[in-house]
Amino acid sequence: LMMFTFVITLCVSVHLFVCVLDGEKAVLRLGSDPDETFVPQCPDIPIGQRVDCFPDCGASKQQCEQRGCCWKPLDERNVPWCFFPTNHGYTVESVQPSNAYAQLKRMASPSLFGADIQELSFHAEMQSNNRLHFKIYDAQRQRFEVPHEHIKNLSSNPSSPISNTLEITQKPFVVTCTLFFRFDTTIAPLVFADQYIQLSAKLPSHNIYGLGEHVHTQYRHNTDWKTWPIFTRDAFPNGVTLQPLPAVTYRTIGGVLDFYILFGNTPEQVVQEFLELIGRPVIPPYWSLGFQLSRWDYGNLTVVKDTVERNRAVDLPYDIQYTDIDYMEDKKDFTYDTVNFSELPQFADYLHEKGQKYILILDPAIATSKRVGNTAYLPYDRGTEKNAWVTESDGKTHLIGEVWPGETVFPDYTSENCINWWVEEYQQFYREIKHDALWIVSQF
Ligand SMILES: *[C@@H]1O[C@H](CO)[C@@H](O)[C@H](O)[C@H]1NC(C)=O
Ligand SMILES: *[C@@H]1O[C@H](CO)[C@@H](O)[C@H](O)[C@H]1NC(C)=O
Ligand SMILES: *[C@@H]1O[C@H](CO)[C@@H](O)[C@H](O)[C@H]1NC(C)=O
Repeated sequence: LMMFTFVITLCVSVHLFVCVLDGEKAVLRLGSDPDETFVPQCPDIPIGQRVDCFPDCGASKQQCEQRGCCWKPLDERNVPWCFFPTNHGYTVESVQPSNAYAQLKRMASPSLFGADIQELSFHAEMQSNNRLHFKIYDAQRQRFEVPHEHIKNLSSNPSSPISNTLEITQKPFVVTCTLFFRFDTTIAPLVFADQYIQLSAKLPSHNIYGLGEHVHTQYRHNTDWKTWPIFTRDAFPNGVTLQPLPAVTYRTIGGVLDFYILFGNTPEQVVQEFLELIGRPVIPPYWSLGFQLSRWDYGNLTVVKDTVERNRAVDLPYDIQYTDIDYMEDKKDFTYDTVNFSELPQFADYLHEKGQKYILILDPAIATSKRVGNTAYLPYDRGTEKNAWVTESDGKTHLIGEVWPGETVFPDYTSENCINWWVEEYQQFYREIKHDALWIVSQF
């Protein structure tokens, strides 16, 4: 039994989809030669094999033909009525004998949404015996790519050359992975425009799992024309469509196509390959899986302790107590209310005596105002000194917002300065208020 999984990383920018509804004649002129016309080649394919050429809005015959696609309406609504012909996509201009590099050129055909990229590069490598990486990108211009902070190049030399794994068909460009299973893009043309990228592949079985960040009512996916919107924006057209062939279509509105295909004989081996690639997760402490109690506005530590005692008294399974931001002075991070929470420094010890743990809540945003008695709020002053805040586009003016403590700045957690600032503030505060873990709330 061969199991597989694949991982795709795509970069997504935020653009809205516009449906252009102007009607023009169905036969389209292409390029500079006014006599050159485009006629879609629409073979008689099984319905489950149709790849949607109109994923945006309700298609009409005219609009479909304007995209150079095939129009065959059905009674069924799930099945695309407007689907790709065989003569869309790219051709291979040149390919290295090893199949590691290829240069692609767009065939003369109508555009779906405009701004098609005419020349693409294809690069593939076997990164290990069980990992195939391939990438399709603009041959001329650098496009945004998600930084791969944890993905490292492997130093191992795979024994099998890329040409044993990957076949490239020239016209139209098709890539077929043949090592353990078939991942075959013959089913539909590659579309690669500035704000619309699409790749489809025929899969060898209906055993399709994964695609996180949704409530999936079943582990094995439904392949009856099901689209899961994903890739950060979590809105169409960014998504993955599964269809009965079975086949998969990836659609996104930016970036590049960057695929890793991982091989293994068992699900466990595939998961091991996956973690080898993306890095291993942190194993949470056992106690963090226990019962936890948190609320906003206990008001003072006496009330918190009364709550703890009340639950202990009835032997409620109860591992962790929180304090929310009302333990702070005026909801300012790295401070505590020395009147109502005056014994907070000893609170962790109090919980530990009975084998319980203490989690403290922190917010990301930092107040710009002074502390009680018009004294300096040092975490803010030190962050300002270290350029730790998110700025406006001039790179200087702090972006100002309004969060729990009132007017705030926002730490720029992508900057080294900010990380250093945060670690120092946090270490200092930890020495003051012992605790077992942190709950960092969202920006709001
Ligand atoms: C990995 O290798 C490729 C070329 O083989 C190179 O372009 C890329 O920068 C390398 N990445 C890292 C993280 O070293
Ligand atoms: C703590 O808050 C409760 C409820 O508001 C109040 O009754 C009590 O007097 C307060 N205790 C102290 C020590 O402030
Ligand atoms: C302590 O709690 C009281 C009542 O809940 C509140 O009015 C007061 O502002 C708090 N003291 C401090 C220093 O935050």
